[in-house]
Amino acid sequence: MALIDLKGIYTAYEGGDKAVIKNLSLHVDQGEYVVIGGPNSAGKTTLLESMNGLVKITHGSASVCGLDVSRSADEVRKRVGYVIQNFYFDPFTPFTVEQVVMMGRFGRLGLLKQPSKQDYEAADRAIRRVGIEDLVHKTIGTLSGGQQQKTMIAHNLAKEPEVMMLDEPFSNLDFHAREYLQGVFKDLVRDGIPTLIVAHAFDGLPDIPIHLVVMNSGTITYDMNCTAGEVEDIIRKECKVNGRCSSR
Ligand SMILES: Nc1ncnc2c1ncn2[C@@H]1O[C@H](COP(=O)(O)OP(=O)(O)OP(=O)(O)O)[C@@H](O)[C@H]1O
Ligand SMILES: [Mg+2]
Repeated sequence: MALIDLKGIYTAYEGGDKAVIKNLSLHVDQGEYVVIGGPNSAGKTTLLESMNGLVKITHGSASVCGLDVSRSADEVRKRVGYVIQNFYFDPFTPFTVEQVVMMGRFGRLGLLKQPSKQDYEAADRAIRRVGIEDLVHKTIGTLSGGQQQKTMIAHNLAKEPEVMMLDEPFSNLDFHAREYLQGVFKDLVRDGIPTLIVAHAFDGLPDIPIHLVVMNSGTITYDMNCTAGEVEDIIRKECKVNGRCSSR
């Protein structure tokens, strides 16, 4: 079943006169592991924002989890896990890791309802899956960048999303954490949850079929399945053919 179906979309930022995403189509089915690569400013983050209804789609059609993104953005965001590229928590942010992960349940819960046993269990599972049990009582602003990133991944896992999207989730993580989280994402895919990862480095990709999407100048220039070992070479080649390349 197609969980993502984009047909000829164009998107522009508020006040921006030019389309950032241009005539882009993408189809993702259940249980796909999708790697999105391409140079800086190719539009990778904008693509994820578009699929989450955070940037206006001006032309074309976009369906995520069977919902029209332009009409049902709030519902889409409840069903999609989205770990954004850059976040910053003030050192005095009062929420603990445990609370931030539990906030992942709020879309299902509604803000004013008390969490149920099921909600606590989902948050607990997410904490254990990411391996941050020792951080639960710390406030998020006092953690390292990598620890904050793991917390935000747990927050999105607690959501029990139908689709998972992550924008450079490995950028702050050490080798061990990257390898460990690749295992977590592989499990998600095995459970049928399509997982889309924007990345610039490709070590430790799982040994499963990779749906590789390469973006250049706001559109997709490569969209095919390959193996983990082929990803880096294909991206290098694609960027040479289609423009600049700053991928490592
Ligand atoms: N909020 C915004 N308002 C206007 N233009 C924006 C905004 N965010 C990004 N852009 C523009 O959209 C284009 C694509 O940016 P985007 O962040 O999607 O690239 P990216 O592929 O994610 O790059 P990177 O690898 O550096 O993260 C860039 O030209 C950028 O200047
Ligand atoms: Mg980006």
